[in-house]
Amino acid sequence: MNDFSGKTVIVTGGAKGIGEGVTRAFAQAGADVFCADVDTVAGERIQAEGASLPGSVTYVNTDVSEAASCEALVAQAAANGSVDVLVNNVGIQPLDSYLPAHQFPEEAWDRILAVNLKSGFLMSKYAVPEMLKQGGGVIVNIASVQGRQSMKGVPAYAASKGGMISLTQQLALEYAEQNIRVLAVNPGTIETSLALESVNQDVEALRSAAADAHPLGRIGMPEDIASVVLFLSSDAASFMTGEYVNVDGGMMAKGSWAE
Ligand SMILES: NC(=O)c1ccc[n+]([C@@H]2O[C@H](COP(=O)([O-])OP(=O)(O)OC[C@H]3O[C@@H](n4cnc5c(N)ncnc54)[C@H](O)[C@@H]3O)[C@@H](O)[C@H]2O)c1
Repeated sequence: MNDFSGKTVIVTGGAKGIGEGVTRAFAQAGADVFCADVDTVAGERIQAEGASLPGSVTYVNTDVSEAASCEALVAQAAANGSVDVLVNNVGIQPLDSYLPAHQFPEEAWDRILAVNLKSGFLMSKYAVPEMLKQGGGVIVNIASVQGRQSMKGVPAYAASKGGMISLTQQLALEYAEQNIRVLAVNPGTIETSLALESVNQDVEALRSAAADAHPLGRIGMPEDIASVVLFLSSDAASFMTGEYVNVDGGMMAKGSWAE
């Protein structure tokens, strides 16, 4: 199932956290991965690690909220021969953005929506023509359980993730006849720098809160998301499109009345 030899994969925000796990897993499965990120140190680290894996990792310093950067990134990947899988993973949730809507700065709204949602549109806009040329492809969007159920203080993040789920369904319908499958993954709490920022880098506090929130009793790791992304990208999922998968330790199954 997980042989991606000869395939070209783009992972946005692919140098750290969930994206790093996805980049590594695809390169372990033989793919040539174009890892787009703004963190050069982390990007060069995963690129170097890629040299010892069956596939390869090429780090591309790219802010994927900008159209020209997305277009150039897709062109670089396409020069490798094809664009088989696009993983729109990038996402931000800055600590100073945990505010109710009436106190939320417009600039913070614009930035979060640009990085978390517009990048998914832009990357798809430029990758789809390559997929059409080659007769198909797969787009996997990393949304969130926060796109399905909400909490206080996250108007922009919640809207961006709900938008990502809607975009997934829309693109799936748009391109189903052209054999482009579009899917979303909704992670629960995953041990990454984004999640650690919300608890002042206190890893034990994060693990303990996640263990309470997830019926499976533990925090998720980037590999938990990566393995599902590879499944969705593979022919084993060839009858799936327009769907999201919660990879959340059972969190979304839990009613507010549950113990
Ligand atoms: N960690 C969680 O608990 C969790 C839960 C649900 C959903 N998610 C989602 O998963 C995705 C990955 O999150 P993570 O926890 O791995 O975050 P992270 O902060 O650990 O990693 C995000 C990566 O994106 C890069 N990045 C940031 N802005 C960028 C930009 N403009 N262009 C290119 N790269 C950029 C960062 O440098 C970093 O390498 C996000 O979409 C996030 O919303 C995370």
